[in-house]
Amino acid sequence: MFEHKTQPGWVKVENFLTESVVHPDEALQRAVQSAADAGMPPIEVAPNAGKLLNLLVQLSGARRVLEIGTLAGFSTIWMAQALPDDGRLVTCEYLPKHADVARANVDAAGLGGKVEIRIGPALETLAALHSEGQEPFDFVFIDADKENDAAYLEWAVRLGRPGTVVVLDNAVWEGAVLDPSVDRVNAPGIIGALELLGKHPHLDGTVIQTVGSKGWDGFALALVR
Ligand code: SAH
Ligand code: DHB
Ligand code: MG
Repeated sequence: MFEHKTQPGWVKVENFLTESVVHPDEALQRAVQSAADAGMPPIEVAPNAGKLLNLLVQLSGARRVLEIGTLAGFSTIWMAQALPDDGRLVTCEYLPKHADVARANVDAAGLGGKVEIRIGPALETLAALHSEGQEPFDFVFIDADKENDAAYLEWAVRLGRPGTVVVLDNAVWEGAVLDPSVDRVNAPGIIGALELLGKHPHLDGTVIQTVGSKGWDGFALALVR
């Protein structure tokens, strides 16, 4: 949906930054290519955003990461590469085909032992993780169906602890937060999540706007308190 608003200058600068600063390794490049080869949508985070996730995992000292929305594992690999030896990442994906492609990419990245891909609607997986009584997650990345963004924020609080870092992708959605008629499916979900973030007693957050290969968008960053 973003192509028509993507300015060439943004993309050229992003490519320059990717090559000069971010330089994704072969496993990451393979993840993007494999998604294209499999006919999956090119909706993984931009490389500079992936590297930001990697840095945020490092900065927070996270050992347990939860991801909602795997696709081909591009963001998964960025985050798993930042984990310590005993780190674990659980990622939720409801399309088995996406999970298969991601599994191959994660294994090829040498991260197979750290990453668990759970297939099914994320709301069911999150409820299962809760009832299993797992250790709290230190870092949560939300990037799946936008209708459930507010519910995913609530789950991030419930499955986290004070100090857990939460990142929510697609928080601006080409400005649809001000004009839901642009996208009547996703915009209301994003707006609902931002309203919740602004008033949630256990979330302290902000939103950063972005431009580049993924058009005009942004991400929310929050701390569980
Ligand atoms: N985080 C990925 C991109 C995820 S795209 C990256 O940056 O590389 C969104 C993914 O969420 C898609 O693979 C889609 O199949 C999945 N998804 C959509 N709705 C879902 C749901 N209800 N439960 C779990 N996964 C879902
Ligand atoms: C879409 C989903 C995303 O998570 C994203 O970052 C960009 C686009 C989409 O469903 O169109
Ligand atoms: Mg996204």
